[in-house]
Amino acid sequence: MIPVPLASRRRLLQAGLALGAAALLPPAAAQAPLLTRPVPSTGIRLPLVGLGTNRFRFGDEAWLERLRETLGAFLRFGGKVVDTAPAYGDSEAVIGRLLAAANGLREQLFLATKVGRESAGEGRDSLAASYVALRTPRLDLVQLHNLRGVATVLPILREQQAAGHIGHLGITSSNDRQYAEMEAIMRRERLDFIQVDYAVGNRGAGERLLPLAAERGMAVLVNLPFGRGAQFRAVGERPLPDWAAEIDCSSWAQVFLKYVVSHPAVTCAIPGSTQAAHVADNLGAARGRLPDAALRREIAGYFDAIVDG
Ligand SMILES: NC(=O)c1ccc[n+]([C@@H]2O[C@H](COP(=O)([O-])OP(=O)(O)OC[C@H]3O[C@@H](n4cnc5c(N)ncnc54)[C@H](OP(=O)(O)O)[C@@H]3O)[C@@H](O)[C@H]2O)c1
Repeated sequence: MIPVPLASRRRLLQAGLALGAAALLPPAAAQAPLLTRPVPSTGIRLPLVGLGTNRFRFGDEAWLERLRETLGAFLRFGGKVVDTAPAYGDSEAVIGRLLAAANGLREQLFLATKVGRESAGEGRDSLAASYVALRTPRLDLVQLHNLRGVATVLPILREQQAAGHIGHLGITSSNDRQYAEMEAIMRRERLDFIQVDYAVGNRGAGERLLPLAAERGMAVLVNLPFGRGAQFRAVGERPLPDWAAEIDCSSWAQVFLKYVVSHPAVTCAIPGSTQAAHVADNLGAARGRLPDAALRREIAGYFDAIVDG
């Protein structure tokens, strides 16, 4: 469980980051422990569900308030892993600004960002800009975005890690055309994390990459757990099947996320959201029972039948 200490709760309220979020879940559910898994290389434990921020952009005051409430709900309900990237426009700067509004909230988060440059010089500049935008001297995870810069930028990240400025190193992909290259990098490099796309409607990474990550002692962040939202459109208005109650799911989002995080190699799924209610819903997938192997097969079969239907 990631407890939210009283002092932090006070800071959340002072920052306005908790506004609105408190009403989203009953107190008992909000206090239920989030399930966690350890990062193999460091032993640090992370909740099974985090937050993707590729649509965090500056906008008018109403939009910024929406993002403030989204991040506030995430913190209020014990969320920890936030994934961003320079490639997501203003995302790093928005997160930096929201966190700066409240002293001490930075320490609650496991901040993951990326470098997406091929040359060493550009990679160094990109990393320097991330520290500035996120307003932090230390990044918990820096990932090579879409496998770019393994020969050129990874050595720079290793230097930064040795100096204590970066906690963990990783590589990302969200495209099965990169899986063979990703596998080759995983076999030859020492990495703390991989990040890859995996979902009930997109199970390819489960064949080789996820078992290899477990074998190599690498933590796994899962991007696109909802297929960029396509899975919600696929199930439409269908009611939840009876088995959803057996794994304490009250929404399709929770079914989709529990499918992902019940894979034993997965450390944390990072669904993207810009809505406090969705964040609260998604963190619910890090509570209660998870599907066993038989139910995982049933969930996959149920989803396949809808898509093939
Ligand atoms: N190569 C890479 O490194 C890479 C590539 C792609 C993505 N990523 C990372 O992965 C994260 C997730 O990807 P993604 O955001 O593109 O796709 P996603 O997580 O599969 O789906 C996001 C969509 O689901 C909706 N949603 C979220 N929670 C919901 C809920 N409880 N109920 C209904 N709808 C819900 C969101 O809308 P609302 O905003 O309305 O909640 C959004 O439209 C990104 O933010 C990024 O951090 C990394």
